[in-house]
Amino acid sequence: MVTSKIILITLFAFASYANADNKVVCYYDSTSNLRTGQGKFDLSFLEPALQFCTHLVYGYAGINPDNFKMVPLNEQFDVTKENYRHLTDLKRRFPGLRVLLSVGGGSDVSGEDSEKNLIYRTVLESVDHRLAFINSAKDIIKHYGFDGLDLAWEFPENKPKKIRSSFKQFWVGIKHKIVGESVLDEQAAEHKEQFTALVREVRNSFRHDGLLLTLSVLPNVNSTVYYDPRQIAPHVDFVTLHAYDFYTPERNPKEADYPAPIYDLIDRKVDENGDYQVRYWLQQGCPNNKLVFGIPTYGRAWKMDEDSGLTGVPPLPIDGPAEAGPYTNEAGLLSYPEICTKIATPNEIKAGYLGKLRKVNDPTKRYGTYAFRLPKDDKEGIWVAFEDPDTAGQKASYVKAKGLGGIAIVDITLDDFRGLCTGDKYPLLRAAKFRL
Ligand SMILES: *[C@@H]1O[C@H](CO)[C@@H](O)[C@H](O)[C@H]1NC(C)=O
Repeated sequence: MVTSKIILITLFAFASYANADNKVVCYYDSTSNLRTGQGKFDLSFLEPALQFCTHLVYGYAGINPDNFKMVPLNEQFDVTKENYRHLTDLKRRFPGLRVLLSVGGGSDVSGEDSEKNLIYRTVLESVDHRLAFINSAKDIIKHYGFDGLDLAWEFPENKPKKIRSSFKQFWVGIKHKIVGESVLDEQAAEHKEQFTALVREVRNSFRHDGLLLTLSVLPNVNSTVYYDPRQIAPHVDFVTLHAYDFYTPERNPKEADYPAPIYDLIDRKVDENGDYQVRYWLQQGCPNNKLVFGIPTYGRAWKMDEDSGLTGVPPLPIDGPAEAGPYTNEAGLLSYPEICTKIATPNEIKAGYLGKLRKVNDPTKRYGTYAFRLPKDDKEGIWVAFEDPDTAGQKASYVKAKGLGGIAIVDITLDDFRGLCTGDKYPLLRAAKFRL
């Protein structure tokens, strides 16, 4: 009896220690600096977030297609205006914080080929290219005092789900002739092996300086095709699964659905949910504590029309991306503050919504939240699925239940960094952190 009590206490102590060890990885995309008005983000907004973050991942660097060297994508901002230096200086005030520089991330369009990310495969294809990349990356990391490198490698994305309609069929037919239907990358198997080699080589190069190496698995990149978890995991500090954007207005302009469900839904593809991605990495030999689960801070927004029906229940036929929001200025994407300010309050609901959105919560805690407004008079219809503090917290609880290594907030510049929703700054980051 006494022994079992001691064991229980020991287990409990161990469990709380493990929790304290959880990572909170905060992504910071520098293109937020180019937004205007309330959306514009600069370093002065960063500090209230950093009390919650264990790692700051700054993006994005790119690859020079001529010599395969890693380069700042925004030289003016990162180097001339010294944003790199200002970032790593933050470690003086936040001594536990680790600051990493990320390369790729879907932001690098430097390849001249119409396939913007071809350069990421070309780098892999020869030892010399990989060496040029690794040496240049290490130079930048060390020169500016970063703690390590995050590889957000730009592999080709899965093809989006096809919707059967005569119009769509016509285009699919044309495309078929040009690029082929399902073969995205004929050398995928080679690229997978070469990427493993790259990871091993970066680790060897970094070992002496104790630099960190992490991976970001980007949305819609098929892990089965490009990642070998068993071979990779021993060489990386952690892997962040960007397990969202399974549905986007760009990829799925005719049908809206949950963009970032935790679990699978009836009648959907089995791999379009976070849990599937996590299980793949675990089953293939990645240790739990090296897996980090990405939580988006934005919503995917489509335009509802007469064919969308009245219930808002997804999946639903839809008419392309919704108009850009006032802060982010990107069609089909709304930051959390752009959404929260559109949701009807109880008083507005009583008064008949007044053009605001009706929010629909998810009592199952498995799929996510959405909000919508039917098209009416001069007001446009809109359907947006997004994270709120509740769903972000549910994802953190999932991470805890699975014993994973932590959460990533992607990206903190689209969270409510000004406190426009309720006065609290960074409500999604906060809610997720406190549920870990
Ligand atoms: C990912 O790749 C595997 C193996 O090639 C394939 O079976 C699966 O359908 C792919 N998933 C998607 C979403 O394309």
